[in-house]
Amino acid sequence: MTIRASSTPNIALIKYWGNRNDEWRLPAADSLSITLDEPTMEVAVDEAEQFSARSFQADGMERYLTSKEISRLEKHFILAKNYLNSVGAKGIFTASVSLEIRSKIPPGIGLASSAALFSALAEAYAAGTEQISRRDVSILARLGSGSASRSTFPGFVAMFAGEGNAIDASYAQQVAPANHWKLFDVIIAPSLAKKEMGSTEGHALAYTSPLFAARMRALPERQRICTEAILQKDLEKLRSVAEEDCLDMHAVMTSSTPALNYLSQATHRIVREIEELRAAQHLAVLYTMDAGPTVHLVCEESALPAVRAYAHAQTACAVFEARVGRGSRLL
Ligand code: DP6
Repeated sequence: MTIRASSTPNIALIKYWGNRNDEWRLPAADSLSITLDEPTMEVAVDEAEQFSARSFQADGMERYLTSKEISRLEKHFILAKNYLNSVGAKGIFTASVSLEIRSKIPPGIGLASSAALFSALAEAYAAGTEQISRRDVSILARLGSGSASRSTFPGFVAMFAGEGNAIDASYAQQVAPANHWKLFDVIIAPSLAKKEMGSTEGHALAYTSPLFAARMRALPERQRICTEAILQKDLEKLRSVAEEDCLDMHAVMTSSTPALNYLSQATHRIVREIEELRAAQHLAVLYTMDAGPTVHLVCEESALPAVRAYAHAQTACAVFEARVGRGSRLL
């Protein structure tokens, strides 16, 4: 029996960077994101004697997975299977699986393709189990990619770091549903080249930054303000805390050893121009970047025409547009 699931990326407003346990991706601190409705990722999962995985792009062409990518997917399946057994939920897949991935998301550019992929897989692995809660699905997703945890809920989603080293200590929870606030994310990707160092390796370097300890101290208050801004639908409050946190995470990255420079000259130019544009036109828009040069412009509907026009005027950039979405689900 083939189980199909789909999911979408999320964009973090309070960023997850650094784990207290790399093996189980237990994060060092809480984070908060908006689940998007585009671009989508679909997975088809079948029972198999031996693990295998194939991936296809939006144009239908196969994107050959590296042995590292296949190992990560296989390890996630094994961790997910063990977790399901540990909570007494017998999954459909017992021996191993063959995966077929169909993705409309360019990988490795800061557009959370792994969040969409591992949340979709979590959904498929949990299929047919009765005892499994939404919290458990967010844990299953986290075992493949930390931020994937947040894509298992629609709308505005917090990920709680929790405490200790239990596998279920950290999980995601919805802050507000998708229809709570009509926001848009206009995504400008200056480069579709895959980044050199993925987030998994990057997280392990967070502790080498002299700025990391101060970031950890600042995060609880930022998470509180961000949650409040979302509940109050206060874009100015959200802008201030999200941009502060984004710049802080990138400062940690660039001051780690080795230094991680995910942002490009184009990123810095776009940020500067957006600051000018919104000051001139009083636009309700904020910028934020994950681990890549891609700029996310999160805005209210009133700012959308100007933000969209700005994005489409960028030459040599791919532009995507998303709304607040529902995240992972079985098809
Ligand atoms: C910068 O979830 O991609 O996007 O667990 O190794 O897959 P892995 O890391 P990942 O890290 C996300 C980092 C970030 C910030 C965020 O999404 O919160």
